[in-house]
Amino acid sequence: MMKLAPSILSADFSNLLADIKKVEEAGCDLLHIDVMDGHFVPNITIGPLVMEGLKGKTKLPFDVHLMIENPDRYIPQFAKAGAHIISVHSEACIHLHRTIQLIKDNGAKAAVALNPATPLNVIEHVLEDLDMVLIMTVNPGFGGQSFIESSLSKIEALRKIIDTRGLNVDIQVDGGIKVDNVKKVIDAGANIVVAGSAIFNSENITQTVKQFRENTNL
Ligand code: DX5
Ligand code: ZN
Repeated sequence: MMKLAPSILSADFSNLLADIKKVEEAGCDLLHIDVMDGHFVPNITIGPLVMEGLKGKTKLPFDVHLMIENPDRYIPQFAKAGAHIISVHSEACIHLHRTIQLIKDNGAKAAVALNPATPLNVIEHVLEDLDMVLIMTVNPGFGGQSFIESSLSKIEALRKIIDTRGLNVDIQVDGGIKVDNVKKVIDAGANIVVAGSAIFNSENITQTVKQFRENTNL
């Protein structure tokens, strides 16, 4: 079953809850929250205060994508603000194993995100500890960028490793995913799809969500 996680990065921030209600009613599964610090990525977005404000107002679990330096410093705050799952970038973690344990100790599911240029082998020894791996299909920082095709072989390779080891680890893909290329990432082995501009910039969100599901038969 494909899970759809709309990224609120492309939502209307002056009307955030109303936009969240739209994707909730359209049958999405998770709410993808992109946290950027202006250091790890060249953009600044939202933090735990905004999440705290949304907590309890939507049924969608918070899928928190931390694109920040020194994530350990903020993990407890994000967990407290209602994060169901927290992704940290391997490139931002010096002690990745410790950071993963910190996420779990704070009661959230743990995920590691990999930039397009980061090889899969950085998670080789922590894969068993993870609930999800986030394969970035654009360079993180902005919504509305084009999908990087070389990500497909990476998704395939990760799916093979997970299945060979008999693990129950989700593969999330994030960046440049639209109605017309979603089938490729699902066929490659992803099962959680993030989509920002494709969903929030569409005329009819319900129809777009339906199309995402139809195009993948999931
Ligand atoms: C990029 C973010 C993505 C982004 C996706 O740094 O992590 O979640 O919002 O946006 P689209 O789907 O428009 O590429
Ligand atoms: Zn993201």
